[in-house]
Amino acid sequence: MTFSPLTEHLDTPRLVLTPQVPDDAPWLAELFTARGTGTVTVEAAVERIATMTRTRRDMGIGALVLRDRSTGDALGYCALVVGRATLDEPELAYELLPHAHGHGYATEAAAALVDAAFATGRTRLWSTVRTWNRPSLRVLEKLGFRRERVTTDGAGEIVWHVLDAPS
Ligand SMILES: CC(C)(COP(=O)(O)OP(=O)(O)OC[C@H]1O[C@@H](n2cnc3c(N)ncnc32)[C@H](O)[C@@H]1OP(=O)(O)O)[C@@H](O)C(=O)NCCC(=O)NCCS
Repeated sequence: MTFSPLTEHLDTPRLVLTPQVPDDAPWLAELFTARGTGTVTVEAAVERIATMTRTRRDMGIGALVLRDRSTGDALGYCALVVGRATLDEPELAYELLPHAHGHGYATEAAAALVDAAFATGRTRLWSTVRTWNRPSLRVLEKLGFRRERVTTDGAGEIVWHVLDAPS
Protein backbone atom coordinates (compact mmCIF):
# COMPACT_ATOMS: atom_id res chain seq x y z
CA MET A 1 0.00 0.00 0.00
CA THR A 2 1.34 3.43 -0.87
CA PHE A 3 0.28 6.63 0.83
CA SER A 4 0.63 10.31 0.05
CA PRO A 5 3.17 12.15 2.18
CA LEU A 6 1.73 13.88 5.22
CA THR A 7 1.13 17.56 4.52
CA GLU A 8 3.76 20.05 5.80
CA HIS A 9 1.27 22.81 6.58
CA LEU A 10 -1.95 22.81 8.58
CA ASP A 11 -4.07 25.75 9.70
CA THR A 12 -6.42 25.67 12.67
CA PRO A 13 -8.29 28.58 14.25
CA ARG A 14 -5.45 29.44 16.67
CA LEU A 15 -2.46 27.54 15.27
CA VAL A 16 -0.25 27.01 12.27
CA LEU A 17 1.45 23.59 12.09
CA THR A 18 4.72 23.28 10.17
CA PRO A 19 7.81 20.99 10.34
CA GLN A 20 10.62 21.52 12.84
CA VAL A 21 13.54 23.68 11.78
CA PRO A 22 16.95 23.97 13.50
CA ASP A 23 15.78 27.18 15.27
CA ASP A 24 13.28 25.01 17.17
CA ALA A 25 16.10 23.31 19.11
CA PRO A 26 16.01 25.50 22.27
CA TRP A 27 12.33 24.99 23.07
CA LEU A 28 12.47 21.33 22.01
CA ALA A 29 15.34 20.84 24.48
CA GLU A 30 13.11 22.42 27.16
CA LEU A 31 10.20 20.16 26.21
CA PHE A 32 12.27 16.94 26.19
CA THR A 33 13.84 17.93 29.52
CA ALA A 34 10.35 18.57 30.98
CA ARG A 35 9.69 14.80 30.61
CA GLY A 36 11.75 14.41 33.76
CA THR A 37 13.97 11.66 32.37
CA GLY A 38 17.14 13.75 32.13
CA THR A 39 18.42 16.98 30.69
CA VAL A 40 18.39 17.23 26.89
CA THR A 41 20.80 19.83 25.55
CA VAL A 42 20.13 22.18 22.64
CA GLU A 43 22.84 20.32 20.67
CA ALA A 44 21.03 17.02 21.25
CA ALA A 45 17.76 18.65 20.18
CA VAL A 46 19.42 19.77 16.92
CA GLU A 47 20.34 16.10 16.30
CA ARG A 48 16.78 14.98 16.99
CA ILE A 49 15.42 17.58 14.56
CA ALA A 50 17.77 16.23 11.88
CA THR A 51 16.57 12.68 12.59
CA MET A 52 12.91 13.75 12.45
CA THR A 53 13.54 15.55 9.15
CA ARG A 54 15.11 12.39 7.67
CA THR A 55 12.21 10.29 8.94
CA ARG A 56 9.73 12.61 7.26
CA ARG A 57 11.67 12.42 4.00
CA ASP A 58 12.10 8.62 4.08
CA MET A 59 8.74 7.55 5.52
CA GLY A 60 6.33 10.38 4.65
CA ILE A 61 5.14 10.81 8.24
CA GLY A 62 6.51 12.78 11.16
CA ALA A 63 5.98 15.71 13.48
CA LEU A 64 4.53 19.18 12.96
CA VAL A 65 5.19 22.05 15.35
CA LEU A 66 2.23 23.90 16.84
CA ARG A 67 2.89 27.61 16.35
CA ASP A 68 0.68 30.31 17.82
CA ARG A 69 -1.03 31.98 14.86
CA SER A 70 -0.72 35.49 16.30
CA THR A 71 2.76 35.40 17.88
CA GLY A 72 4.52 32.60 15.97
CA ASP A 73 5.64 31.10 19.29
CA ALA A 74 6.15 27.33 19.31
CA LEU A 75 3.88 25.52 21.79
CA GLY A 76 4.79 21.88 21.19
CA TYR A 77 4.41 19.24 18.52
CA CYS A 78 1.89 16.78 17.18
CA ALA A 79 3.04 13.78 15.17
CA LEU A 80 2.29 10.66 13.22
CA VAL A 81 4.87 8.07 14.24
CA VAL A 82 5.35 4.34 13.84
CA GLY A 83 5.84 4.08 17.60
CA ARG A 84 4.33 0.80 18.84
CA ALA A 85 2.20 0.50 15.68
CA THR A 86 3.05 0.39 11.94
CA LEU A 87 3.71 2.72 9.02
CA ASP A 88 0.36 1.74 7.46
CA GLU A 89 -1.53 2.28 10.73
CA PRO A 90 0.67 4.75 12.61
CA GLU A 91 0.34 6.28 16.04
CA LEU A 92 -0.83 9.78 16.88
CA ALA A 93 1.42 11.51 19.42
CA TYR A 94 1.48 14.99 20.96
CA GLU A 95 3.54 16.84 23.53
CA LEU A 96 3.27 20.48 24.59
CA LEU A 97 5.46 22.81 26.61
CA PRO A 98 4.21 22.94 30.21
CA HIS A 99 3.01 26.56 29.95
CA ALA A 100 0.84 25.63 26.92
CA HIS A 101 -1.14 22.89 28.69
CA GLY A 102 -4.82 23.37 29.46
CA HIS A 103 -5.90 25.59 26.55
CA GLY A 104 -7.23 22.96 24.16
CA TYR A 105 -4.21 23.25 21.87
CA ALA A 106 -3.44 19.51 21.74
CA THR A 107 -7.00 18.65 20.75
CA GLU A 108 -7.14 21.46 18.17
CA ALA A 109 -3.86 20.40 16.54
CA ALA A 110 -4.48 16.66 16.76
CA ALA A 111 -7.92 16.97 15.15
CA ALA A 112 -6.31 18.65 12.14
CA LEU A 113 -3.50 16.07 12.04
CA VAL A 114 -5.99 13.18 12.16
CA ASP A 115 -7.78 14.61 9.11
CA ALA A 116 -4.42 15.04 7.36
CA ALA A 117 -3.43 11.46 8.25
CA PHE A 118 -6.60 10.08 6.67
CA ALA A 119 -5.97 12.33 3.65
CA THR A 120 -2.75 10.34 3.02
CA GLY A 121 -4.95 7.31 2.28
CA ARG A 122 -4.60 5.65 5.67
CA THR A 123 -7.78 4.24 7.16
CA ARG A 124 -6.79 3.49 10.76
CA LEU A 125 -4.76 5.30 13.43
CA TRP A 126 -3.57 4.19 16.86
CA SER A 127 -2.46 5.94 20.00
CA THR A 128 -0.93 4.35 23.10
CA VAL A 129 -1.12 6.12 26.43
CA ARG A 130 -0.13 5.23 29.99
CA THR A 131 -3.15 4.69 32.25
CA TRP A 132 -2.10 7.55 34.57
CA ASN A 133 -2.03 10.15 31.79
CA ARG A 134 -5.52 11.60 32.25
CA PRO A 135 -5.06 14.69 30.03
CA SER A 136 -3.79 12.57 27.13
CA LEU A 137 -6.58 10.01 27.54
CA ARG A 138 -9.10 12.85 27.50
CA VAL A 139 -7.63 14.31 24.29
CA LEU A 140 -8.09 10.91 22.58
CA GLU A 141 -11.64 10.67 23.87
CA LYS A 142 -12.43 14.14 22.47
CA LEU A 143 -10.99 13.09 19.10
CA GLY A 144 -13.26 10.03 18.94
CA PHE A 145 -10.64 7.31 19.54
CA ARG A 146 -11.96 4.15 21.21
CA ARG A 147 -10.16 2.08 23.82
CA GLU A 148 -9.12 -1.20 22.17
CA ARG A 149 -6.89 -3.12 24.57
CA VAL A 150 -4.44 -2.83 27.45
CA THR A 151 -0.90 -4.20 27.36
CA THR A 152 1.84 -4.10 29.97
CA ASP A 153 5.54 -3.38 29.80
CA GLY A 154 8.19 -2.83 32.45
CA ALA A 155 6.82 0.64 33.23
CA GLY A 156 3.19 -0.41 33.66
CA GLU A 157 -0.05 -0.50 31.68
CA ILE A 158 -0.47 1.00 28.21
CA VAL A 159 -3.93 1.66 26.81
CA TRP A 160 -4.21 1.18 23.05
CA HIS A 161 -6.72 3.42 21.29
CA VAL A 162 -7.90 3.17 17.70
CA LEU A 163 -9.66 5.51 15.29
CA ASP A 164 -11.04 4.45 11.90
CA ALA A 165 -11.41 6.86 9.00
CA PRO A 166 -14.95 8.04 8.41
CA SER A 167 -16.62 5.80 5.82
C1 LIG B 1 -1.33 15.50 26.96
C2 LIG B 1 -1.16 16.96 26.55
C3 LIG B 1 -0.55 17.03 25.16
C4 LIG B 1 -2.54 17.63 26.54
O1 LIG B 1 -2.40 18.95 26.01
P1 LIG B 1 -3.53 20.08 26.25
O2 LIG B 1 -3.38 21.09 25.17
O3 LIG B 1 -3.48 20.53 27.65
O4 LIG B 1 -4.87 19.22 26.00
P2 LIG B 1 -6.33 19.81 25.77
O5 LIG B 1 -6.43 21.11 26.52
O6 LIG B 1 -6.62 19.80 24.32
O7 LIG B 1 -7.23 18.71 26.47
C5 LIG B 1 -6.90 18.21 27.76
C6 LIG B 1 -8.14 17.63 28.41
O8 LIG B 1 -7.75 16.87 29.56
C7 LIG B 1 -8.46 17.36 30.68
N1 LIG B 1 -7.62 17.15 31.84
C8 LIG B 1 -6.51 17.83 32.20
N2 LIG B 1 -6.01 17.31 33.34
C9 LIG B 1 -6.82 16.28 33.68
C10 LIG B 1 -6.83 15.34 34.76
N3 LIG B 1 -5.91 15.35 35.72
N4 LIG B 1 -7.82 14.40 34.81
C11 LIG B 1 -8.78 14.36 33.84
N5 LIG B 1 -8.81 15.23 32.79
C12 LIG B 1 -7.84 16.17 32.73
C13 LIG B 1 -8.72 18.81 30.38
O9 LIG B 1 -9.76 19.33 31.20
C14 LIG B 1 -9.11 18.68 28.89
O10 LIG B 1 -10.41 18.15 28.75
P3 LIG B 1 -11.73 19.08 28.53
O11 LIG B 1 -11.52 19.85 27.25
O12 LIG B 1 -12.84 18.11 28.45
O13 LIG B 1 -11.81 20.01 29.71
C15 LIG B 1 -0.24 17.75 27.54
O14 LIG B 1 -0.76 17.58 28.83
C16 LIG B 1 1.19 17.29 27.50
O15 LIG B 1 1.97 17.74 26.68
N6 LIG B 1 1.56 16.37 28.42
C17 LIG B 1 2.93 15.87 28.47
C18 LIG B 1 3.24 14.98 27.29
C19 LIG B 1 2.30 13.83 27.15
O16 LIG B 1 1.85 13.26 28.13
N7 LIG B 1 2.00 13.49 25.89
C20 LIG B 1 1.14 12.38 25.57
C21 LIG B 1 1.93 11.13 25.62
S1 LIG B 1 0.86 9.75 25.27
